Amino acid sequence: MRVVILGSGRGSNAEAILQAQQAGRLGAAQVVQIFSDKPEAGILALGPRFGVPATFVDPAPFKTKLEGPGEDRFIDAIRAARADLVVLAGFMRVLKPKFLGAFADRIINLHPSLLPAFAGLDGIGQAFRAGAKVTGCTVHYVTLEVDAGKIIEQASVAVAPGDTLEALATKVHAAEHRLLPAVIARLSRATK
Ligand code: GAR
Repeated sequence: MRVVILGSGRGSNAEAILQAQQAGRLGAAQVVQIFSDKPEAGILALGPRFGVPATFVDPAPFKTKLEGPGEDRFIDAIRAARADLVVLAGFMRVLKPKFLGAFADRIINLHPSLLPAFAGLDGIGQAFRAGAKVTGCTVHYVTLEVDAGKIIEQASVAVAPGDTLEALATKVHAAEHRLLPAVIARLSRATK
């Protein structure tokens, strides 16, 4: 199963996936390409470290959505990589019908809350400020409605009394780093 990772940020989840692959814990999945919409994103530095091509794809002209010429560039790049699975690991853009249709049922996203609670931006901060006693992370299929596609797997994280936002974020990220590679491995076995 050929996996392409899309990310906009530091890439700690992409790193967890690549470490799982190195350790033989990614099932029949193989990361073949990393793409970012931000030329300076930390996720692109993982490429040379792990021997995976990692490239910036220009998302212009929009700032928060992927539509028009930028959407076409991403579709072409992912098609050229012959991806079986597109993994959004901190890819901070709203996807539109053309992109979703190009990879129907093959796009999964990681979100830092127990969906459907705390969808949208800053899922960890939202849970923290709401006083949630339990939060966590979700891997789900991507549909037109943001953070609303069918849930594949979740991991819960207890919010301890006295947890700071930073402490909670550290716990949620650790749960994400376990969850996402495990889901990819499981999906790769299901498609064999
Ligand atoms: C992760 O916490 C992921 O859940 C979140 O971005 C972070 C990426 O971190 N995604 C979203 O909020 C999507 N709505 P990373 O770049 O270190 O993997």
